[in-house]
Amino acid sequence: MNEKKVVVALDIGTTKVCTTIGYKEGNNFEIIGVGSHPSYGLKKGSVVNIDKTVKSIHCSLEDAKLMAGVTSISSATIGIAGNHIYCFNSSGVVAVKGEEIVDSDVDRVLEAAKAVLIPSDREVLHVIPQEFRVDSTAGIKNPVGMCGTRLEAHVHIVTGKISLIQNIIKCVEAAGISANDMILQPIASSRSVLTQEEKELGVVLIDIGGGTTDMAVWKDGSLIHSQIIPVGGNHFTNDLAVALKIPHNEAERVKINHGGVLAERLNQQAHITVHGLSGTKSREVSLGQVAKVLGARSEELFSVIKRQIEEKNLEEFITGGYIITGGGALVKDLAELGEYILEKPTKIGYPRPFGGMTTVMQNPKFATVLGLLLESNKENMGTLAPQEKINKTPGNHGHGDIFGRFSDSLKNVFKEIF
Ligand SMILES: Nc1ncnc2c1ncn2[C@@H]1O[C@H](COP(=O)(O)OP(=O)(O)OP(=O)(O)O)[C@@H](O)[C@H]1O
Ligand SMILES: [Mg+2]
Repeated sequence: MNEKKVVVALDIGTTKVCTTIGYKEGNNFEIIGVGSHPSYGLKKGSVVNIDKTVKSIHCSLEDAKLMAGVTSISSATIGIAGNHIYCFNSSGVVAVKGEEIVDSDVDRVLEAAKAVLIPSDREVLHVIPQEFRVDSTAGIKNPVGMCGTRLEAHVHIVTGKISLIQNIIKCVEAAGISANDMILQPIASSRSVLTQEEKELGVVLIDIGGGTTDMAVWKDGSLIHSQIIPVGGNHFTNDLAVALKIPHNEAERVKINHGGVLAERLNQQAHITVHGLSGTKSREVSLGQVAKVLGARSEELFSVIKRQIEEKNLEEFITGGYIITGGGALVKDLAELGEYILEKPTKIGYPRPFGGMTTVMQNPKFATVLGLLLESNKENMGTLAPQEKINKTPGNHGHGDIFGRFSDSLKNVFKEIF
């Protein structure tokens, strides 16, 4: 048991809370436990009901523990999203003190790049290096060991609202574990879905969840833009419910079992029976009608994404096109419609298989939690310590520590890239 190295990832989504437990022995890393539970306490990626969120986290943790045969978990890597997340690019410059650049120079320049004025209600979650410049040489991925007098860093900064981040941490802690790191969900999804080659070539990862659509734009192996759009698969379902005048759960069933976004690809004469709102009779609706509703919402979502890419002048960087993941990506013909609107190659992104339960987990809806697990495996080994207690004193839920650890994400991401 001592040899066991267990890591835990927790994705607190708008529609589901999912826990995965990974186990490492030697070079082998495999998934040994998964627990997924419906999520009722979030809206558009933010906690709106603490009790319901805690309950969902607790249930997903228990299911994963049971499957893994693990009796206790003390910490996990958590994903974060929500429309309070704001990301931007920044840069910093320092003078190199010694003859050659050392790790501490890199730390200083990243700190300098991070030293931008952000509103007092926001906290920096990630500072992700894009490139370094030493004197007049640009495009350097790792400047350590190089000679020069001036070191410049270009970084991508992710910020979130402190109160909303604290709500997530509070729920995790109330469920009995601590957050050992927090990672932006589209970064996590990119980790499990994209290849290094795709990140080098330039791609946009689109994670369509239940409440939000998360974007991550990669070029030359670096994250150059990220954004959370407050529209997700639930909006597709709501549209169907309103247009067909059916209950939400019936709309979800119709979307999953009969939905598509290209009416011309379906047998438009085919009809399905739907349950009406309470007190009304079942009715027949055509598949063409369903596809028109879902197609309109998809078109709108892709148009928003395209506009964002154009506004940020990122079009020329995304040679590799768009890769759609998240549960929302499973609506039939979505990639085909995306390619038509986005005018770039577009495909559905599945998490890459790694040890254990590959058939179940190779589903776009698990992209985030698997990415979190891979991230977690890198740094945070040995989360089995049951005795470890969260340092909770009134008014201190350990958030100071957490934010300190987030700054460490900077070093983690730096290590990952190089
Ligand atoms: N087979 C399917 N066909 C169509 N849609 C699907 C299918 N399976 C799941 N979905 C949709 O995927 C969405 C949920 O995706 P996902 O599980 O990635 O979201 P989440 O992580 O809970 O939410 P978020 O990331 O927004 O917080 C729901 O809107 C659901 O209807
Ligand atoms: Mg999600």
